[in-house]
Amino acid sequence: MPAILDDISAEILDLKKKIGATILAHYYQEGEIQALADITGDSLKLAREATKVDSPVIVFCGVLFMAETAKMLNPAKKVLLPDLQAGCSLVDACPADKLERYQERLRANGHKFQTVCYINSSAKVKALSDWVVTSGNAEDVVRNKVPQGYEILFVPDKHLGAYIKDVTGRDMILWDGSCMVHEIFSLGDLLKMKKQHPAAKTIAHPECPANILGHADFTGGTEAMIKHVGSFTAPTEFLVATEANMMWELQRRFPQHTYLGVPGVSCSCNKCPHMARNTLEKVRDCMKFGKPEVLWQPEFDKAKEVLARSLLNPPVAVTPVVEDHPHGD
Ligand code: 13P
Ligand code: SF4
Repeated sequence: MPAILDDISAEILDLKKKIGATILAHYYQEGEIQALADITGDSLKLAREATKVDSPVIVFCGVLFMAETAKMLNPAKKVLLPDLQAGCSLVDACPADKLERYQERLRANGHKFQTVCYINSSAKVKALSDWVVTSGNAEDVVRNKVPQGYEILFVPDKHLGAYIKDVTGRDMILWDGSCMVHEIFSLGDLLKMKKQHPAAKTIAHPECPANILGHADFTGGTEAMIKHVGSFTAPTEFLVATEANMMWELQRRFPQHTYLGVPGVSCSCNKCPHMARNTLEKVRDCMKFGKPEVLWQPEFDKAKEVLARSLLNPPVAVTPVVEDHPHGD
């Protein structure tokens, strides 16, 4: 929390008390938003924390699929998202009707499979899936929850999917989607930086393509990155291949290290334009006016069960997982 608050931040803290709100913020939000949050985290931590919120309102500073997840896992709460247009290129890459048709085709062709979707997907896609994973638990779910003897249809992130396929050795069919931020890290610039900083450690998010991951010293989701960086006591240089705001949290927690963002091919900062839609002004206004609000959608009923059994430990009351494919395999 900054020592001297600007006017808008002070207003947000007043409104927070007045309406009874808990602010959750993803590590990809601007530092000034993270600084005001009650809880910051990666997708997995924020989903789990959302279930524990007891204030009547959740202000979710992140993108729509994250706020929908919070609503599904804690339906009694009013969930506000500062900008309802804050989407995700991965969600856009996998329309539910296209997925359903593809699943039908696979079944017709005799494939015995389960569908694992990355949490960066619509609620309709989650409802069509057997499991939902984040970068933080994907390896565990694929290794330990998807029964042996099934192929895995992994949607929508082909890079995360390829990484998980590689580390688990599972038989996987990958959907052709990618994160617009991680997709464009420049390999040429990374190699140049490695030459200029030979002692630096490269940390990369598994949403990066294999050509970037192949040059990383550590691959992991944002929470795993924090843990990894925290294991270094001596001042160290890190080349960071993930959304640039992540360095705010790394700098805050471990100021003894130096962080250098790996640039993208078309811009030097690699900030997510969807995450950037949320501003302090919009955080204030959503609390002031009680909207935009994430409202319950019919598909949430099914998607919520898949989310709960995949992410919560122990899972909340949900329909038990059956050995047979739940979509009729
Ligand atoms: P994690 O929060 O799982 O690290 O994923 C990063 C991301 O791209 C969120 O949109
Ligand atoms: Fe989606 Fe990538 Fe932005 Fe995350 S960083 S919200 S995966 S576009």
